[in-house]
This record gives sequence, C-alpha cells and structure tokens, in this order.
Amino acid sequence: MNFDLKTLDLAGAAAEKCDLLVLLVPEGFVAGEDALSALVAQASKAKDFETKPGKSLQLYQAPGVAARRVVLAGVGKGDGRSVRQALGSVAPVLRGASVKRAVLCLAGKALPETLAAMVHNVASASYVYTTTKPKAEARTLARVVVGVSDSSALAQAFDISVAVVAGVETAREWGNRPANHATPTLLSEAAKELARHPGVQCKVLGPAQVARLGMGAFMAVARGSEEELRFIELRYNGAAKTQPPVVLVGKGITFDTGGISIKPAPEMDEMKFDMCGAASVLGVFRALAELQPSINVVGLIPACENMPDGRSVKPGDVVTSMSGQTIEVLNTDAEGRLVLCDALTYAARFKPAAVVDIATLTGACVIALGGVRSGLFATDDALADALHRAGEAADDLCWRMPLDDDYAEGLKTHFADVGNVAGRPAGAISAAKFLQRFVGEFPWAHLDIAGTAWKGGANKGATGRPVGLLVHYLLGAATPAAPRARARKALVRAA
Ligand code: BES
Ligand code: MN
Ligand code: ZN
Repeated sequence: MNFDLKTLDLAGAAAEKCDLLVLLVPEGFVAGEDALSALVAQASKAKDFETKPGKSLQLYQAPGVAARRVVLAGVGKGDGRSVRQALGSVAPVLRGASVKRAVLCLAGKALPETLAAMVHNVASASYVYTTTKPKAEARTLARVVVGVSDSSALAQAFDISVAVVAGVETAREWGNRPANHATPTLLSEAAKELARHPGVQCKVLGPAQVARLGMGAFMAVARGSEEELRFIELRYNGAAKTQPPVVLVGKGITFDTGGISIKPAPEMDEMKFDMCGAASVLGVFRALAELQPSINVVGLIPACENMPDGRSVKPGDVVTSMSGQTIEVLNTDAEGRLVLCDALTYAARFKPAAVVDIATLTGACVIALGGVRSGLFATDDALADALHRAGEAADDLCWRMPLDDDYAEGLKTHFADVGNVAGRPAGAISAAKFLQRFVGEFPWAHLDIAGTAWKGGANKGATGRPVGLLVHYLLGAATPAAPRARARKALVRAA
C-alpha cells in the first residue's frame, strides 16, 4: 500500500478524485464555506451525524464532492484511541472491493499523534492476510492520500508512521502464517531477505553451531521436532561501530504443543502465534530499513518448534544452559524461557546499551493484563520509563510489573541450579525472574506479549504489536537528529 501526505483544506479534499473519502470530524468542528462543511453541518443538524468516536455516516455521490463515496467519521478529541475507534468502524468500507484509492482527511489541526493514528489505523483496518489465501481476496486498497492542514510540519511523523506500518504488516503476516508456512528455516530466510536492505546484515546458525555454543536449554526444546532449529542474528548499523547497540531478543517458537507436558486440544492452533516476539523483531528491522536512523540494533531470534516425541526433553530432565547454570525442566510447556535464556547469555557479547526481549511467554500475563497492555519487566528504571513512554506515544501500551526476589522462591529445586517453573500464582513474574538469572551486566527489559500479540475469536489474527512501541523506543534512543527517511513516498509491502 502506498501512502502520500498532502496539505488539504476541506475544499481541496472535496476536489480529490478517489473511490472513498474518509473525513474525520473532531468535536467542536467549525464549518467553512465548502461542500464538505455543508454536509457535516446539515447531517449534524438533522442528528444523522455526531462527532463521537465510532459514529459515522456514509454518502454516495455527494453534491460538490469528487469522491465517489464519502464517509463522515467522528473522532472526538482526535487522540490515538479515538482515531482507532473511528477507523475501526469504517474498516468494512476500507476493505471493500471497490475501494482502490482513498483519501483520509482530518477536518481540523492534526497533531503528530493524530496523524500517526490515522496512518496506522487505516493500514490495520484494511490489512488482509494473504500468504495462504487466494489472491482474489487480497487487499484492494492500493493508495491512501492523508490530508492534513499543514503537511510540512508533519513530514517526519508521517515517515515514521509509514515505516511502522510496514513493520507491523511484516509482523502480522509472519505471525498469522500457519506453522507449516513459518518454520524456523522459513523465518531465517525472511531475516536474510531483510538483509538486502542497506545497513542490515543477517547471520543464521544451525544445530551444529548452536551445540558448539553450548546452548543446551535451547537445544532441549528443539529436540522433539523434525524441523531443525535456527538461531537468527540480525544487525542494523546506522551509527559508528563504537556505539553500543540495543539488542532485541524475540521468542521464536513456531509452534508450541507444550511438548511432553502437552497442551489441551481446544485453541491449540493459536500456538502458531508463539513466534510473535520473533515476528516483531523482523518487523522492527523492516521499519529500520525504511527509516535508516543513526543507531545500532541487534536482533536475536532463537527459533524452533516445541513438539512431543520419543526424543523430546522430559519433565524432570536437567539441561545445561549456555551460561553454565543447570535447569530442571519441570514442565516442557515452559519452553519460551528456555530458548530465551540462552539468547540472553549470547546477547552479552555485543556489550549492549540495553537488551529487550519480546515473548508470548505466559498465559498468566493474559490473565493479568488482557489484550490492552503488554507486561513490562525491567531491571533499570530509565529503560522501563523509556519503553513505557514509547508505548504511550505509539498507542501500543505496556504496564510495568514487579521483579522482587521473593517471586523467584518457587524456582528453587534440589536437582539443578533452577527449575523452569514455579507455582501458578504470579506466573508472569516468576517467568521473568527465571530470565533475569541469565541477564549480564546490561540494562534489561522483558515484554510479555502473550495477551497483545494476537486476537482470538471471530477476528483471530496477529496484531503486529509491539512493533510500534519498539520503533518509537529505538528512535528515542537515536541521536536526536531526524531519521534519514529515504523517500517521502514509501512503499508498504507485507513480509
Ligand atoms: N506460549 C505459551 C504462553 C501462552 C499461553 C501465550 C496461552 C498465550 C496464550 C508458553 O510457552 C506456555 O505454555 N506457558 C505456560 C507456562 C507454565 C507451564 C508455567 C503457561 O503460561 O501456561
Ligand atoms: Mn509453552
Ligand atoms: Zn510458548
């Protein structure tokens, strides 16, 4: 999908030839002399339209308007959430087969936050999963002109938003792929594809190299699968070599059956989403490739399946992690922390400025925070604050959780340095406490995205979160200079 930013007043918007014009109307809208103002004024007077978010009115071949269809949509205060609600309610129209070219216009002054919400939500409302669905059903919306009163002031916010959209769509598409179309090997090939962009490099390790590194915890998870594991190392170099990188670590369990501690059958298909942390890392690199900011970033993805088999790791088995710590695998379904702990040990070699891992780690986090906020755990207050703020800015929210040592009590065992599970209470926190044991001398944060990475039910699918949060965090960590966006018109491709 192609985005363009344009300065448009309402008269200009009325003159835009397109299949669909979506006019976002904030509360307190002041009508002008143009045709669109007249429509809004008349419809409001007749109580056919309100500026409350979620309220909308559709018109066909409206007088004085060049667009074939017009939707008036209320956006209340024009904040991220309101724009999300407004465009969510217009989603069926945006996905319509007749809409190729759309104009999205705000009837008022746009803040960078409003513009970002416009770009993100028009993209997410029109996204259609394609990998294993016939082309005929693919997204028809090809071009979106975003109209604002002053485009020059918003150019940078626009470039960032368009790059985030590309990243989110990469993450959604990979997240949505069924496990037989998103194997560890296929993930590593996607990472190698990303390395075709300037500044991006990729290295992929297979079973022999991972064994040489001594990643016994990661290898234990992969044992039961016919699919070979992959350890993916992406690098984005936008700053001097001497500048320490931020390392992102994404959980890449391409399917989680639970292993010998097998999961119940209902909804087990959703465990294809257990690589959404990895998908978010791919998405972030897609956005970095677009923006070319002056920072260094490393992306690490331990990727494998968790399967039951005659060779599988068994409850009670003790394995030796890359750190040298022994782990009693009391529950083979607590596999995410096993693949992540070796990746965290590996991360130390980059002498990182910070390490952030992203994982669909615990059902307990879904119970704690639901699908609204990701769980945030951090050993460093400055890092926690930066991630929290990035989440607010990107409308990709998270919430900090505690890491008191008392939460690690349940991980103690007689048979190894640590067990891989504690009891059911505070399960998201004890998982984080397990990971913390493997963190070296660097600020570390952990994002548990089990509740936010995908939606179940009728709208089942990956959300692309927390790509927005991570990109905003990384750009905040960049030297204040504006990111060197390569082109105003950015081509957004899924995967
Ligand atoms: N991938 C799951 C976590 C998960 C479960 C995410 C449901 C979203 C929805 C993870 O590998 C897992 O199975 N965790 C266990 C840990 C337990 C055995 C301590 C869980 O949360 O039940
Ligand atoms: Mn599991
Ligand atoms: Zn899992």
